[in-house]
Amino acid sequence: MSQSLETIPNNVDLGSDRRLQRALEQWQPNFLSWWRDVGPEGFQQHDVYLRTAISVDPEGWATYDYVRMPDYRWGIFLVPKSGERTIGFGDNLGQPAWDDVPGEHRNALRRIIVTQADTEPASVEQQRQLGKVAPSIYDLRNLFQVNVEEGRHLWAMVYLLHRHFGRDGREEAEELLARRSGSSDKPRILNAFNEPIDDWLSFFMFAMFTDRDGKYQLAALAESGFDPLARTTRFMLTEEAHHLFVGEMGVDRVVQRTAGLMREGKEPRKEGAIPLDIIQRYLNQWFTLSLDLFGGEVSSNAADFFAAGLKGRFREDDLAEHKAMGQSYRLEVPENGKLVEENVPLRNAMNEVLRDEYVKDCQRAVDRWNKTLAKNGVQGLSLALPHRRFHRGVGPHSTAKFDPQGRMMSEAEFEAHKDEWLINEADRKYVKSVMNGVFERGKMASFIAPPAKGINGMPVDFEYVRAPGS
Ligand SMILES: [Fe+2]
Ligand SMILES: [Fe+2]
Repeated sequence: MSQSLETIPNNVDLGSDRRLQRALEQWQPNFLSWWRDVGPEGFQQHDVYLRTAISVDPEGWATYDYVRMPDYRWGIFLVPKSGERTIGFGDNLGQPAWDDVPGEHRNALRRIIVTQADTEPASVEQQRQLGKVAPSIYDLRNLFQVNVEEGRHLWAMVYLLHRHFGRDGREEAEELLARRSGSSDKPRILNAFNEPIDDWLSFFMFAMFTDRDGKYQLAALAESGFDPLARTTRFMLTEEAHHLFVGEMGVDRVVQRTAGLMREGKEPRKEGAIPLDIIQRYLNQWFTLSLDLFGGEVSSNAADFFAAGLKGRFREDDLAEHKAMGQSYRLEVPENGKLVEENVPLRNAMNEVLRDEYVKDCQRAVDRWNKTLAKNGVQGLSLALPHRRFHRGVGPHSTAKFDPQGRMMSEAEFEAHKDEWLINEADRKYVKSVMNGVFERGKMASFIAPPAKGINGMPVDFEYVRAPGS
C-alpha cells in the first residue's frame, strides 16, 4: 500500500489518479481544521471506542477500536460496480447507467449532491456542545460515532464533487467547509440543519426524524442513473442504520424511564425525567421540521429528477412499473380557507411519494414507543405523529394553519394553542435543567433508561470513552 493510500483510505483506486488525489489531499487539512473548529467540543483528545469503515464487504466493513476523533480515518468507499447496471426508472429506463456526469444533467446533479453534502457537516456543527451533557458514556460514544460518520459522508460527497465536477466541484467542496449551521451570513442550506441541538431529547429526535429523512433521500439517490452516486449512497446507508437506531432507541429509553416512574406512581418531573407531554411536543416539532426536508408536495424539480433518472423512488426495484406516466396522485391542499382535492401527475408528486414511505416508517417507531408505554403499565396515554399538514414551512400546507389532527384553523386559534403543540420556552428550560453530564461507567442520567445491550458485544458499563491520561 502506497503512502498516499494510507493518507486517504479508499476503495476507488485513488492512487491511479494523481490530480484527483492531490486535490483531495489539499482539501484534507481544511477538513481537519473544520473538524477541530466546530466538531465535538471538549473531547478531541479522548479515546473513543469507534467503528471505522475499512471496506464495503458486508461481513467485515468496519473495525472497532479506541480512536481519538481527529485521528479517525475518514475514507472514500463506494459499493463496487456490479456488472453493467442500467437506469431503473424514468425516461431513460433500460439505458446503461452513467459512469460520468451527462452534460445536460450536470447542474441538477451538482445541486442534488451539494444539498445532500451540506447536511453532513451541518449536523456535526449542530451537535458540538452535546458531549458535555451526555446522559452516559455509552450515549457519548454513540454521539461521536454519528459525528465522525457524518464527517465521512461529507468525504463521500466531496469525492464525487472533486472527481466529476472539475473546478466547480472543488469550489463547492470548499464552500461545504465555509457555511455554518445557524450562521446569519453563511447558514447551512436546509432549515432543520440550522436549528441548534443542545439537549439530548432534541438529539434523539433529530437522529430519529431528521436523519431518517436522510435515509430516504439516500435511498432515492441509491437508485440514481449516475452510478457513482448510487454506489456511494448505498454504502452510506449501511452506516446510517446505526444513526437511526441511536435516535429511535434513544427516544424509546426516555419513554421507558418516564413510564417506569409513572407505574411506580411517581411524578416524572420530581425525578428528573421528562413528562410525556414534553416528549410529544419535541416529537411534533422534529417530525414536522423533517417533513419539510422532502420538499413541496407538487414539484416540477422532483418530476425532472425522476424523468432524467437522477433520483428514483424508495426501493424502485420492488415497484411494478418504473415510468410513473399516465398516473396521478391525489392530494388535498388548502385553497381559500378550505381543503380541496387535486390530482397531480404522479411524477410531480415524487416528493410526496417518498414522504409517504417516511411517514409509515415514523409511525412504526411511534408504535414501538407506545408498546414501551403499555409494557410499563401506562394506561390511556400514548404518543402520536401529528398530521402531515400540521406546522409545515414548505409546500401548500405552509400557507394555512392546521392543528395536529390536520384540521384547518385560523392563525389566531393556532397561536392560542401553539405552546401545547410545539416546544415552548418552559419545556426547553426544563429539559435543559435535567441535562447533566454523567461520565461514570454504566451510570445513566435521571431522564433515561439504560440500553438493552452495549455496542459491538461489549457490556453496557464498558468504558466507551476514556479521558486522556486515564
Ligand atoms: Fe449522513
Ligand atoms: Fe446520519
